[in-house]
Amino acid sequence: MVSSKKLTQMCVTFWVAVLFCPSVQSHLQVGFYRNSCRRAESIVRGAVRDALRQDRGVAAGLVRLHFHDCFVRGCEGSVLLDSTSSNKAEKDSPANFPSLRGFEVIDDAKARLEAECKGVVSCADILAFAARDSFDLTGGLDYDVPAGRRDGIVSLASETFSNLPPPNFNVDQLTRRFSDKGLTQEEMVTLSGAHTIGTSHCSAFTYRLYNFSGTNSQDPSLDSQYAASLRKSCPQDSTDPNLEVPMDTRTPTISDVNYYKDILANRGLFSSDQILLTNPATASEVKSNARSPSGWKRKFAAAMVKMGQIEVLTGNKGEIRANCRVINT
Ligand code: HEM
Ligand SMILES: *[C@@H]1O[C@H](CO)[C@@H](O)[C@H](O)[C@H]1NC(C)=O
Repeated sequence: MVSSKKLTQMCVTFWVAVLFCPSVQSHLQVGFYRNSCRRAESIVRGAVRDALRQDRGVAAGLVRLHFHDCFVRGCEGSVLLDSTSSNKAEKDSPANFPSLRGFEVIDDAKARLEAECKGVVSCADILAFAARDSFDLTGGLDYDVPAGRRDGIVSLASETFSNLPPPNFNVDQLTRRFSDKGLTQEEMVTLSGAHTIGTSHCSAFTYRLYNFSGTNSQDPSLDSQYAASLRKSCPQDSTDPNLEVPMDTRTPTISDVNYYKDILANRGLFSSDQILLTNPATASEVKSNARSPSGWKRKFAAAMVKMGQIEVLTGNKGEIRANCRVINT
């Protein structure tokens, strides 16, 4: 085995290396751990499967974790780092806390991997594999995940707001957030389909249920029966920050196209979901995804692979963390 440091030196030294080194240095590869940790991907899948056996809902948490990792500083595991006495980390920003979940599944996968091949598999890759496994195990689609990400050493709560899209954004604002990350508007609609699984805290949408825009009424774009049931789950005077509802009420733990069907029935939970009907291009994608489960799954898998390449660290950049919650010393 050649170390990645050696490879880098070879790349500089031999012009022939130019032919293959870019793929070693700056691109992710399917089967990256084939030689260094042969069972890496099946070990991650085992950890995800065990976790879903306890709580099927955690699949949604893992998909969202990967998204929130990639949109802040790229897919380099910064979302997994704990705060320290001198630094408030991404996971403790209100954009992520208390809603992000699944961290202990990544810890479990990491522990299993460290036992099998110490210091080889990055936390960022574990997260990308776990998101794929979650999509597949909830009825989505299995797809190849290019790997070789390395872990970053910086995580700042202050960077979450300018990078993660909030649920009250309009189509142009949403589109801009995704294009900032190299993703198209169509990929944004495709990826929003992740809201087919999981839950939301009431705080993300109660403003749509009561006195919307000072009208003393609900958001008119929300189906009134659905709004009434949401008001039951999320009372206006509640001070409980933990109240949650499923996002896709019919099949909350199955990756299917009911998310798009719900939007067409004015039952999109967030403004950012429902508002996709207000733009002709995004509306037509919502309709075509609602009609074609297999088409959406294929597009979702491809968009996840693309999202998974945002600003990755490869080659000799970053590190392979021993513990996903702390940087190596
Ligand atoms: C388009 C912009 C997006 C907005 C505004 C948005 C917003 C939100 C909000 C507010 C929640 C609820 C969090 C809570 O309060 O518990 C949520 C949940 C979730 N989001 Fe998004 N999201 C977006 C895109 C995405 C994308 C691209 C993905 C993944 C590819 C994703 C995956 C999820 C999942 C799976 C959940 C459920 C999490 C759980 O059950 O733990 N979202 N999202
Ligand atoms: C509704 O919102 C408007 C404008 O923000 C405010 O003036 C009014 O007092 C609110 N009504 C209630 C019942 O809270």
